[in-house]
Amino acid sequence: MTRAISLHDVSKAYTRGTRVVDRLSLDIAPGEFLVLLGPSGCGKSTVLRMIAGLEDIDEGRLFLDGEYGNDLPPSDRDMAMVFQNFALYPSMTGRDNIGFPLRIEAPGTDPAPRVDATARMLGIEDLLDRFPAQLSGGERQRVAMGRAIARHPSAFLMDEPLSNLDAKLRNHLRAEISQLTRELGVTTVYVTHDQSEAMSLGDRVAVLRGGVLQQVGSPRTVYALPENVFVAAFIGTPRINLLRGLVRAPLDGAMTISLGKQFLRLPEPLSLDHQLLRVQQGREVIVGLRSEAVRIAKPAAARTGEVALTGLVEHLEFQGHEVLVHFDTGSRPALVPELEAPRPAPGRPARRRRREGGTVLERLRERAGALRAGPVATAEAPGRPDPDPGPATATAEPRLPGDLIVRTTPDIRLRHGMQVPLLVDLAHLFVFDQHGRRICPSPDRLPDLEE
Ligand SMILES: Nc1ncnc2c1ncn2[C@@H]1O[C@H](COP(=O)(O)OP(=O)(O)O)[C@@H](O)[C@H]1O
Ligand SMILES: [Mg+2]
Repeated sequence: MTRAISLHDVSKAYTRGTRVVDRLSLDIAPGEFLVLLGPSGCGKSTVLRMIAGLEDIDEGRLFLDGEYGNDLPPSDRDMAMVFQNFALYPSMTGRDNIGFPLRIEAPGTDPAPRVDATARMLGIEDLLDRFPAQLSGGERQRVAMGRAIARHPSAFLMDEPLSNLDAKLRNHLRAEISQLTRELGVTTVYVTHDQSEAMSLGDRVAVLRGGVLQQVGSPRTVYALPENVFVAAFIGTPRINLLRGLVRAPLDGAMTISLGKQFLRLPEPLSLDHQLLRVQQGREVIVGLRSEAVRIAKPAAARTGEVALTGLVEHLEFQGHEVLVHFDTGSRPALVPELEAPRPAPGRPARRRRREGGTVLERLRERAGALRAGPVATAEAPGRPDPDPGPATATAEPRLPGDLIVRTTPDIRLRHGMQVPLLVDLAHLFVFDQHGRRICPSPDRLPDLEE
């Protein structure tokens, strides 16, 4: 009824030399809801299609319930796919769309009882006699789900099934999918580029970047203990604040992380995690502060573990129940290239290097771009005009002003240009090394986060 899916060092290249999936290993338990999450083009659909048997596996092995499955034809895998574009037969009614695969699988058997039972389960009985053109987007996707469910497959493979729907419907169907797949207890691999969808649906989330698995874990774990700066930046809204910092650990004084014009003074006695930062003395690091790690309050209000900063209000984003305040704290933001622009443009790093000599971070960024792997962040001074705006300046999301975004309640009165006291909770401090790997909280610490 439900099955285990395992990928062992699976790779795929469409053109020679460029792996779009690179040595991916993943064990999906029977009945588990696993989400494959990553930006567009990172290989999610390719992974799903390899599991379905629609795409050959170049290297590595696929196991279905422990049995070698690389060469199994798709029809023998007993899996049902649901796609983004609904993929219904336009000339068939809802009933026939749902019943069609059943007729193919078991010719001569009347599909009606299963079609009716599925329609009842999905609450789409009244849609069965309509044609796809007579259905709304959400209704079509329900029929498509019905077609997948009616087959009683051993696994569901869903490729961005909600992407074409409006936000309200998406939330609604998200809850339905979650409930249905759990009721049915069928292993589900769900592909999305939407982190909030991944977090709300998955038992576990597997984060992919450039065909390389970055981390797999429960939503809580990937949020609270991201293994690298890419995962940290990809998961969570508003996006984690990433600032370039410099660790200073004098033998005879307090340890600090300098953030350009200000610094974070690590409270004494140093926590174990902060002690481990000592080896970074004199090195550049990336400081990660989620919006909940910073609050607007005077230094006198500091609780244990909180240290003071100040920020200049640059921009206010009113969201109704809260306000996102963009502060300039005089620090330099670290950028995660893939998350700033659709693709790191070739050519630009070379121009930068000539002009500026090239920092370690920039060189690393180039190297990682070449490898399509290895997490790396980079940094740019905010607001610095680029005299030679190449294609790389066409960013997906225009960069917002300020280097630190803080959430606050709408009743706090703030104006553009105000200097505001901030408190940073160092219990929520992330530090990543120059390669983007998390070094604080220490990777060796094993807090009991998994359910
Ligand atoms: N049939 C194909 N032929 C050549 N390249 C492909 C093909 N399908 C996908 N690709 C490329 O492989 C990479 C991964 O694609 P895909 O798995 O569709 O990513 P995602 O689903 O994460 O957006 C992309 O760079 C894409 O352009
Ligand atoms: Mg895709």
